[in-house]
Amino acid sequence: MAGNLKYDAALAAFGEVKSGMKLGIGTGSTAEEFVKVLVQAVSEGLEIVGVPTSERTKELCIAGNVPLTTLDETPELDLVIDGADEIDPKMRLIKGGGGAHLREKIVAKAGKKMIVIADESKIVDTLGTFPLPIEVTQFGSKATMLAIEAVAKSLDLSGELKFREKDGQIFVTDEGHYIIDASFGRISKPEELAQALVALPGVVEHGLFIDIAKIAYVASSEGVKIIKQ
Ligand code: A5P
Repeated sequence: MAGNLKYDAALAAFGEVKSGMKLGIGTGSTAEEFVKVLVQAVSEGLEIVGVPTSERTKELCIAGNVPLTTLDETPELDLVIDGADEIDPKMRLIKGGGGAHLREKIVAKAGKKMIVIADESKIVDTLGTFPLPIEVTQFGSKATMLAIEAVAKSLDLSGELKFREKDGQIFVTDEGHYIIDASFGRISKPEELAQALVALPGVVEHGLFIDIAKIAYVASSEGVKIIKQ
């Protein structure tokens, strides 16, 4: 069952957590399994301090008595553990299905090491089946959407671009921005796309994580495989 696989990956990755660590804590259903493991370990005496990557993760940590700090108080982290929507053979990721990729990327970059936890369904040959989340400023968001479309076209990418909605309303991120989900299908040159997107003024951050994660714990019914880049 996928739920158990997420827990299996989280539990296996927890083996990398040592007492005294400053931890970045991800967002999403897999990261929530990791929070459960952490809550249990803290109740048994593990001493860590965490930086959550979203308000949702923060709430879960507070409810489970996981000691928290902020990235401003603790700008360098020992380890960051987070989920992903897609993982390719070069350990390039798509993240942001939960809408938290801006904070997630800031936290991941502040970490000495980022570990991805996932079930095997997240492994892909080519990124892009999962729509790429692109966080944009509310101001001029439609103009930014057109600019994204033009950039994509210049890279031979096409597909539907959609403002993310939740409960019938446009979704607003923890940082107060909108998300455009871009269904490109196949992103054969993620580095080029990443560079082109960040050059657009209304784009705050996209969900391509390139050269950030070096290790993934991927669970399947056969067990948890550790993939290193
Ligand atoms: C949150 O914004 C995302 O980056 C998540 O880490 C990603 O969507 C994976 O989520 P699940 O573990 O729920 O699949």
